[in-house]
Amino acid sequence: MATITDHKSEPAALTVTWEDGVTTTYPWIWLRDHAHDEATFHPVTMQRNIHTASIDPGLAGTTVELANGDVVIDWSDGDRSSIPVGFLAEFRTPDAATTSLGLEPILWDAATILPTPSTSYDAIMNSDEGLLDWLSKVTQYGFALAVGVPATGEATKELLERVAYIRRSIFGGFWEFEADMSKADTAYTNIELLSHTDATYSNDAPVQLLHCLYFEGTGGESTIADSFGVAAELKKQNPVHYETLATVLVPGQYIGDGAHLMAARPLLRHDHNGNLVQVSFNNADRAPFLLPPEEMVAFYDAIRAFDNLSNEHRLQWRHQLEPGEAMLFDNWRVMHGRASYQGGRKLCGAYLNHEDVESKIRMLQTALKG
Ligand SMILES: [Fe+2]
Repeated sequence: MATITDHKSEPAALTVTWEDGVTTTYPWIWLRDHAHDEATFHPVTMQRNIHTASIDPGLAGTTVELANGDVVIDWSDGDRSSIPVGFLAEFRTPDAATTSLGLEPILWDAATILPTPSTSYDAIMNSDEGLLDWLSKVTQYGFALAVGVPATGEATKELLERVAYIRRSIFGGFWEFEADMSKADTAYTNIELLSHTDATYSNDAPVQLLHCLYFEGTGGESTIADSFGVAAELKKQNPVHYETLATVLVPGQYIGDGAHLMAARPLLRHDHNGNLVQVSFNNADRAPFLLPPEEMVAFYDAIRAFDNLSNEHRLQWRHQLEPGEAMLFDNWRVMHGRASYQGGRKLCGAYLNHEDVESKIRMLQTALKG
């Protein structure tokens, strides 16, 4: 538990000293805006009740006391507020706002990803620890298998619903697809799918689950490439290409099924601290755009290099998914693909909203921390 050992009121702020000697300066207006009385912050909805713009910009604390783990402030307008010391401690180092889950990406290649990140179906379905383990792996590596899943659509749907509600999109919700090998085999020869992310035309590219319920044929191994790892490799090989992909806005679009969806972001999207947060790459769904000639050609040079790297086997996890292995993967973090195959198979799957998976991780982290 953090302890304040000293505090000092200044004209515009309160400076506190923590037990390890670190000092933090909190502007009075910030303290008033974050007070924990009910008129300021509702304890049930966890929403701000105070109208921030109505706070007098000249408001200052007149007296400050430490009492029962709270900082109690008497204000120049006669109000009194208290703020838990533990809350202030969360902000003892001023920094830009973050929505981080505290799960840093672990970059990998074909060799280092093995053994495949996996969690047992029983652990996921029967314990919060198991579910958090699975979702944490998906966040850190970009994908993870649930193993021992009953090879039925119903069980797969229940597994998805353990994480979040299933997204309804132009493709529907939960889907099952069967290709029957008794029909002409060439008609069911399915060509290779190169590394890509789904939903570059969506502002919330989803987390996705695939479960092969049945397969009789040849080929068809699934591929996953670490988008962040490929980006790191590209940066090392050609920083100019990296910069191009970090800055050129690429539109994605989907036209059909009564919809015309569009979204645009750089292939390599960074947060304002310069951390890579999302990779979006889908050659088929890229909408037309034209830049001045030099920039346009530089873009083609950059996506060629990125595409080639993302399909190098040394950077891919390649695996023939068996019934019972449900693969959950994050379209922000990895690219997926599939080798060509011949035969019949039955697949099922669904999209989950990325933000809902993040929400579940936060809920589980909070629940299991206590
Ligand atoms: Fe896809």
